[in-house]
Parts: sequence; C-alpha cells; structure tokens
Amino acid sequence: MSFFSGNFFTGPYPDDVDAIFMSHVIHDWNDEDCLQILGHCYEALPTGSPVLVQEFLLDDDKTSQLLGVFQWFGLLSSTSGDQRTSAEVGTLLSKAGFAEIETRAVDREQSIVIGWKK
Ligand SMILES: C[S@@+](CC[C@H](N)C(=O)[O-])C[C@H]1O[C@@H](n2cnc3c(N)ncnc32)[C@H](O)[C@@H]1O
Repeated sequence: MSFFSGNFFTGPYPDDVDAIFMSHVIHDWNDEDCLQILGHCYEALPTGSPVLVQEFLLDDDKTSQLLGVFQWFGLLSSTSGDQRTSAEVGTLLSKAGFAEIETRAVDREQSIVIGWKK
C-alpha cells in the first residue's frame, strides 16, 4: 500500500491506483462538490477498480446513533456538507459513473459505500 498527497479538487491524481479510499471526506461537501471529487476518482481509476467511501451514515429516515447525529450538527454549522444515508451516497456514486454499488458495515457507527468503475 502507498499513500499519495494532493488536492482532490484540482489533482493531480495518481495514475497507477488499484482503489481509492475516501474516509470521512464527502460529508464535508455539498452534492456538486462531491460529484466533482468522485468524478476525478472515476477518471483516475482503471476499469474494474473500486472507490470506497467511508462515512458515519445516517439511517434511511435520516436518524442515527449518537455519533452520526453529533457529527451532522458540526457539518451543518461549519461546512457546505451533509451527513448522508447509504442511498444518498450511492446516488452520488452512481451519478459519478460508478456501478454495482453496495454498503458494508465497518463497525457499529461507520460504513463503507463501494462503487466500481466498470
Ligand atoms: C473530516 S477530515 C477526514 C480525515 C481522515 N480521512 C479520516 O478519515 O479521519 C477531512 C480531510 O479532508 C482534507 N481536505 C480538505 N480539503 C481538501 C482538498 N481540497 N484536498 C485534499 N484534502 C482535503 C482535510 O485536510 C481533512 O484532513
């Protein structure tokens, strides 16, 4: 595994990646900004590779256990972002071009939404 530093709005993105892991990143941004970031991820990934979006996801009715709601208040007061549901993150991934989207639990609070470049 290797790490690459950069600006996810302007790039450059590495050209030899197997996967891109976005941990607690897209919650900081509105849908338009997320689509820009995820669009860059799509362009950077080779066909057959995944983007993994780790978040404290809200439940479908926008409720959550303590951590997700606590973080949501912070996001609403200091960013243009949003605490999203699995479906909302999946819609962003789909709009960015990703397919076969699925959500997997990491622990009691965190999940990863995975989309594949086909
Ligand atoms: C909520 S933190 C998440 C940190 C870490 N990935 C984690 O899971 O704990 C969001 C991160 O995005 C970084 N960030 C903000 N704008 C960025 C940009 N344009 N390009 C790259 N990173 C950025 C911030 O510096 C911060 O480290």
